[in-house]
Amino acid sequence: MKKQFIPLPFYANYSDQTMLDKAHAFNNMIQKRRTVRDFSSKPVSKQVIEQCILAAASAPSGAHMQPWHFVAIGNQDIKSEIRIAAETEEKEFYQHRASKEWLKALEPLGTDTSKPFLEEAPWLIAVFAQRYGLDAEGNRFKHYYTPESVGIACGMLITALHNSGLTTLTHTPSPMGFLKQILKRPDNERAYMLIVCGHPTNDAQIPNLKRNSLSQVSTFFE
Ligand SMILES: Cc1cc2nc3c(=O)[nH]c(=O)nc-3n(C[C@H](O)[C@H](O)[C@H](O)COP(=O)(O)O)c2cc1C
Repeated sequence: MKKQFIPLPFYANYSDQTMLDKAHAFNNMIQKRRTVRDFSSKPVSKQVIEQCILAAASAPSGAHMQPWHFVAIGNQDIKSEIRIAAETEEKEFYQHRASKEWLKALEPLGTDTSKPFLEEAPWLIAVFAQRYGLDAEGNRFKHYYTPESVGIACGMLITALHNSGLTTLTHTPSPMGFLKQILKRPDNERAYMLIVCGHPTNDAQIPNLKRNSLSQVSTFFE
């Protein structure tokens, strides 16, 4: 495709103080995000999910290949099918595949083979990564930095959902091949992540985790 440029349509040009205020406000908002595993069945409108997916799909991607596809599942029968398949994989994982070290790392989270949230939450969003693209004639073209691009899009999706007042669970049953099968996705896609989203139950509990400090997570050269 030929080079085609347009003027930058938006640039906020905030004052230093406004920038700092906005950085604080965003950090306060996002610090309240926690992974929840107790979901109520309270409905969430499709329009909210659509807006959050559009936000995620605005993520940067290698050579602008946009190598992702989001499948939003509100259908109860499909959610039940996903739960059954995920619990089968999780049983294998907890009983055979996971190393002792991995199981020990999971202990504080209290996770196990039971995944009722896959049926209880109003929406599951299965994110697929496209290993290569296909043009209108079915010819393959290369995608670049697919895992990085899809990871960023997932982060933006989780952020958008949290910003809308919803809670999420990043779920990665391993392996996730069953999602491609159940959701009838094409050969060039592989399941990347399953994001469970909705409202928490009134008595939802979360593990008491601590986040690392700024000095632990960053290094500055000024
Ligand atoms: C790539 C990835 C995979 C994850 N997979 C699972 C999972 O399969 N099941 C689960 O209960 N939580 C899963 N989590 C959630 C993490 O356990 C959780 O983010 C972490 O404990 C920190 O808690 P917080 O999200 O509340 O800050 C996953 C998170 C990430 C980023």
